[in-house]
Amino acid sequence: MQDHCLIIDQGTTNTRATLINPQLRPLHSVSVACAPEHLPGERWEQDPDTLWQAVLTVMQRVVTESGLGVERIAGLGITNQRETTVLWDADTGQAVHPALTWQDRRTETQCNEWRQAGHEEDIRARTGLLLDPQFSAGKLHWLFRHHPELQTRARQGRLRFGTIDSFLLWRLTAGQVHATDATNASRTLLYNLTRQQWDTELLDFFDLAPSLLPQLHNSASAFGLVDPQWLGTRIPVLSMIGDQQASLLGHGCISDGDVKATYGRGCFALVNSGARPVFSQNRLLTTLAYQLPGETCYALEGSVVTAGSVVDWLEEDLNLVTDRHHLAALAETVPLEQTEIMVPAFTGLGAPYWEQHVRGAVFGLTRDTRIRHLVAAALRSVAYQTEDMLKAMRYDNIHVACLHVDGGDLTQQWFLQSLSDLTGIKVITGDTAAITARGTAMLCGLQLGWFDNLHTAAALCGEGPVYQPRIDEALRDRLLRGWDDAVRRIQAPA
Ligand code: G3P
Repeated sequence: MQDHCLIIDQGTTNTRATLINPQLRPLHSVSVACAPEHLPGERWEQDPDTLWQAVLTVMQRVVTESGLGVERIAGLGITNQRETTVLWDADTGQAVHPALTWQDRRTETQCNEWRQAGHEEDIRARTGLLLDPQFSAGKLHWLFRHHPELQTRARQGRLRFGTIDSFLLWRLTAGQVHATDATNASRTLLYNLTRQQWDTELLDFFDLAPSLLPQLHNSASAFGLVDPQWLGTRIPVLSMIGDQQASLLGHGCISDGDVKATYGRGCFALVNSGARPVFSQNRLLTTLAYQLPGETCYALEGSVVTAGSVVDWLEEDLNLVTDRHHLAALAETVPLEQTEIMVPAFTGLGAPYWEQHVRGAVFGLTRDTRIRHLVAAALRSVAYQTEDMLKAMRYDNIHVACLHVDGGDLTQQWFLQSLSDLTGIKVITGDTAAITARGTAMLCGLQLGWFDNLHTAAALCGEGPVYQPRIDEALRDRLLRGWDDAVRRIQAPA
């Protein structure tokens, strides 16, 4: 009996494998840490081989530790940190440079030059994205400009490019398959959202050889077979999807207007916009939510640069607390009406501002300000920034009725109540910690015939605790005006 799927979630700081059954319940999960390396100049790299070894480890351990037996695994799914750029040799499969991860900002100057030369609008109309260093094409352009020998090899058709999904698929299939799914492709700045194919004019613009690119597939598809050397048997790879899109699915957000926010080091909020791509008037990104045969679903996306990383800063850098689990206990003694407002723009502001050069500030300090006030202001800044993204969605005519949330550090009760108060909407947690894996398993399940359609699968996505706003509109408006004012003050020219 083959009654589980094995989901690989290769994220920014962790690699995880989870076994999931047809009721979409996780049976067992194993994860290992694999943080990217932070180099001077906001450069972030990861060794692709280390990531691959981590994937092998968690895959093999989850099978052994669960006692399930590999013959019970019907299919494998991959979900991943998006945009992270890997370049490898087509013959050996060896990476030719460390991966440039999505946070890497070395292409900032180049992106500004392209923007100033007036290219952003056209690129945005084609890809739904902005000319920001986050996306893959600028990273590839940088690699070839700084390593001309790689450019020569690329032109000879001897190199392959992929986001992490694609690189892992190549390794899993022992170099047999070079493919990606449409959601990952939609993060590269090379995918034409309306034509739903690679954009040859953009390849020319970024000076990239077409042979670098993976083949495009739907998010649920027969991607290839795992080589038996890894798990002892040939398991079909049946789904691939970017991690933020996977968590949208994992919350059951499959209808127009459904929104989720995932709190990791940063925060990513996606709203399902249905079968039409909405091009934001408020600097949100247009992206694919998922693609199935005959069905394309789009999303609008906003991201907050500093979310969970504000907790790292409080604990590891400022040493304001010795244990991050005490942060909420400190913060909950501070009323929402606190005078201190912190804007943690350590490396600029994300959506809807996209201002890389502004820096953070704390306003409203008094002689009575204590550590707990700073902690509360830091954590609440994440809720205020979430509201900024939801506001941008509302301005784009999306009706946001409630917010599904998941992620690690910021999902304690205290934060979620503040989030509900400051956004003025119901905040819904998931019924499992494995939301992202579940979204990926839903796609695997479609391929396996576990579900007729996504609605049947989404019906299995339950809810955890729910938070309702407890403050009145007048207070909420006053608090949001205070936040807006603080953001305006850091944006003001020096
Ligand atoms: O776009 C980057 C995003 O996919 C990273 O997500 O959860 O791996 O930090 P995460």
